[in-house]
Amino acid sequence: MSRIAYVNGDFTPLEDAKVSIQDRGFLFADGVYEVTAVIDKRLVDYDGHVRRLHRSMGELKIAAPVSDDELLALHRELVARNNLTEGLAYLQVTRGAADRDFTFPDGATPSLVMFTQAKTLCEAPAATTGIKVATVPDIRWQRRDIKSVALLAQVLAKQAAAEAGCQEAWMIEDGHVTEGGSSNAYIVTEDDRIITRPVSNAILSGITRASVLRLARERGLEVEERAFTLDEALAAQEAFVTAASTFVMPVVEVDGHKIGGGQPGPAVRRLREIYIDAARETAI
Ligand code: PDD
Repeated sequence: MSRIAYVNGDFTPLEDAKVSIQDRGFLFADGVYEVTAVIDKRLVDYDGHVRRLHRSMGELKIAAPVSDDELLALHRELVARNNLTEGLAYLQVTRGAADRDFTFPDGATPSLVMFTQAKTLCEAPAATTGIKVATVPDIRWQRRDIKSVALLAQVLAKQAAAEAGCQEAWMIEDGHVTEGGSSNAYIVTEDDRIITRPVSNAILSGITRASVLRLARERGLEVEERAFTLDEALAAQEAFVTAASTFVMPVVEVDGHKIGGGQPGPAVRRLREIYIDAARETAI
């Protein structure tokens, strides 16, 4: 059975889901996106994703293509039509189709497309083994806070990591880790402090990050929001990444150096459990 996508007002089999070659997402990467996890057929951290979508659209002056109520209804209908129990809901908003011209076109209608991908999230095998990370220079633009579909730097970063036998890339700027190719990056120090870069234009403000840090603080865990160096990461007790697509995922190797003995450590395993429990409770 074919997957069902949503394109500008219509649900349609994925293979028939098409946008114009003049869509500015295609021509200029002039668009933004969100990826929301689905567990138990429900949306995880949904409000945070919608808030960030509005912020990204606002920074680019793209009008919302549908109301918030409609967007939630579309997500729910898409999950139902695809019979999705666990996986990801992807949405993309672009400035729409117009004759090619760099400046914003007058009267273009923003485009909204959505699709789902089935994925094992809660029982992901990688969470038991941990993942390997390779570092690459961060060659991205200076507005990484916008969840833009201009992802070529991350495509190259993650491809380089994959070719090195790794599952994620950590991007390095001025000797410090900015974030993962599609995740936020963390280390845990010997004295059990969780270190992650503060939110700024240098990284994406992860929705999973916000939930994990809130849950960690509520449980009395020490969180320090500051940039950390590659050397600190190599010396760390534990390391991990967070994203809607991985939740809390242990990192057990960076550039071939084992972290914390090469096994997922207790702090990361606990954080993952705490996050998944909360996600199950609060998903809508
Ligand atoms: N990426 N940083 C970057 C560069 C990302 O692309 C992502 C997510 C994150 C984590 O954000 P969140 O916790 O809101 O998912 C951080 C998604 C999953 C993707 O592009 O597939």
